[in-house]
Amino acid sequence: MTKESGRLALLLSGRGSNLGAFLRAQHSGELEGSVEVVISNRPEAAGLKIAQDAGITTEVVDHTLYASREAFDQVLAQKIDEFKPDVIVLAGFMRILTAGFVDRFRGKLINIHPSLLPKYRGLNTHQRALDAGEREGGATVHFVTADLDEGPGILQTPVSIEDGDTAATLASRVLPFEHRLYPYAANLVLTGQVSLGERSALWHGETLPPGGKLWRPS
Ligand code: GRF
Repeated sequence: MTKESGRLALLLSGRGSNLGAFLRAQHSGELEGSVEVVISNRPEAAGLKIAQDAGITTEVVDHTLYASREAFDQVLAQKIDEFKPDVIVLAGFMRILTAGFVDRFRGKLINIHPSLLPKYRGLNTHQRALDAGEREGGATVHFVTADLDEGPGILQTPVSIEDGDTAATLASRVLPFEHRLYPYAANLVLTGQVSLGERSALWHGETLPPGGKLWRPS
């Protein structure tokens, strides 16, 4: 029996290590909900196998079969609706979503980004942090809005940059923090402790800074 307090749909395109983290949190009772479906835009995504091995329903909406972003997003949204999720978790989902899609799921759609937003939106975040001489990298969970990686932050965790770090070593140190941060942040949304205001995330009704609340795992 899984905990039934909240329903999650998880969207991915690749390896699915964050999915693995959600499943572990679900099984330990830490997650206040259950992953009802995993949807991928890529049929070969390794994360689908993780879901199947855990007995979770999987769906593929292959973006290459649709003539436009709008057509793809329409089918994706219908598929999501079938599972009536409370929260939709983007976990390495490598598609830019249309404004129509994002608005339809406003306040329920969250993403994890491997930087301390609002710094380093977009790709190659770790390399860019190193090139800029930062002493900290990290990850941020944020609400998704129509602008790429610009949605209001919910929770973020810093990770120290060490001498000799490369983008690969930094990414491998940030990832375990992502795995703890993301289910924890999803809980905040599932339980209504964090919600999406007009321009920022609200923590028990109080406006959070653009990157969200600072969080250090204990
Ligand atoms: C993570 O690094 C996440 O921050 C980024 O995409 C990656 C997904 O990894 N958005 P995985 O597929 O969950 O292993």
